[in-house]
Amino acid sequence: MKLKILVTAGDGIGPEVTNEAVAALKEIAAIGGHEFAFTEKRIGGVAIVQDGTPLPADTLEAALKSDAVLLGAVGGNEFNALPPDKRPEAGLLAIRAALGGFANLRPAFAFKELAVNSPLKAEIVEGADVLFVRELLGGLYFGQPREWNKTSGEAWNTMRYTQDEVARVARIAFELAGKRRKKLTSVDKANVLEVSQLWRATVNEVAKEFPGVMVEHQYVDAMAMHLMNRPRDFDVVLTENLFGDILSDESAVITGSLGMLPSATIGGKVNLYEPVHGSAPDIAGKGLANPLGAILTGALILRHSGGLETEAAAIEAAVRKVLELGFRTPDLARGGSQGLTVLSTKEMGAKVRETVKEQLVRA
Ligand code: NAD
Ligand code: IPM
Ligand code: MN
Repeated sequence: MKLKILVTAGDGIGPEVTNEAVAALKEIAAIGGHEFAFTEKRIGGVAIVQDGTPLPADTLEAALKSDAVLLGAVGGNEFNALPPDKRPEAGLLAIRAALGGFANLRPAFAFKELAVNSPLKAEIVEGADVLFVRELLGGLYFGQPREWNKTSGEAWNTMRYTQDEVARVARIAFELAGKRRKKLTSVDKANVLEVSQLWRATVNEVAKEFPGVMVEHQYVDAMAMHLMNRPRDFDVVLTENLFGDILSDESAVITGSLGMLPSATIGGKVNLYEPVHGSAPDIAGKGLANPLGAILTGALILRHSGGLETEAAAIEAAVRKVLELGFRTPDLARGGSQGLTVLSTKEMGAKVRETVKEQLVRA
């Protein structure tokens, strides 16, 4: 299998974690005789500094020519005073729009070994396995008009969705639910927002195409609570852009750390893969970052762009195995480090590769 992968490592811990994801993919390629060609390009703050724009033209060009894009993270405190359209985050939103993927899959899986790391009781989180399907190209992030009018002292953003935009992401969520536990929870704010009323009506229409999937609707405020009280009750959670952004970070509480969460964005010209976490300026450059979310994102590249299910599952199994063996990055040792081995970003990456190799070579 040949894959052209563009790596846009970005800022902060982005380069640290993507290095480990790329190394894991190279290990998979070496074992299976696959040809994965990696190219690196700038995005985000590093591109603002070096190229004067958060998404340089050659990065976008390379992205459109690749089979998959792996993004680390963008953003840094030095850019916080910039307006939204000049910030590192604007580069991320621009590449998302250009690649066209509208369904952002964010699986949140509660590894048993990490239950102690969650502030929730082990009996609440153990076995939780939620797949968020976050609409990624609509809503407040992209709706027009948007402005901060400094003369009038007003600012506005627009939450807008078309029926088609809702239906296409809903179809993907229903299809995925059909292959899982056959339950879909659609999250909205239909008690207040017209956009959410359209969302709910459209989801109900699409649901008729998937009679085997049970549908429920939750308001986003209540959902934020249900996720913490009874995460195991949820299978696929479908929601709009901003609600999905917020709820997926909240699901880090179920998994034990934000550093565990991967994502894949599908449905467009080129799939985009990014861990859920950001550039984590507070820990950048110190070897403290958890690379497992990025490595699991690499597994999603194998699954969704390479059709390499065995290899994707081998990475996931290796992550489980290193956790079983007691290896942790510092964010995963908050519940106490007794009996555990706390590793740096690079050491954790190496441990996963070693384990992947053992598993695939044995198989
Ligand atoms: P963040 O996700 O960067 O960090 C939140 C907290 O989680 C921090 O305490 C951080 O140390 C910790 N954390 C995150 N990832 C970790 C990992 N892999 N290992 C260990 N700990 C980890 O969110 P933030 O601090 O709110 O934002 C920082 C910057 O990142 C901002 O500029 C924001 O816009 C940007 N951001 C970018 C992306 C992206 O590029 N995909 C996503 C989210 C935030
Ligand atoms: C995420 C991030 C991004 C988002 C930001 C950095 C634009 O928070 O991927 O979750 O809000 O989509
Ligand atoms: Mn986010």
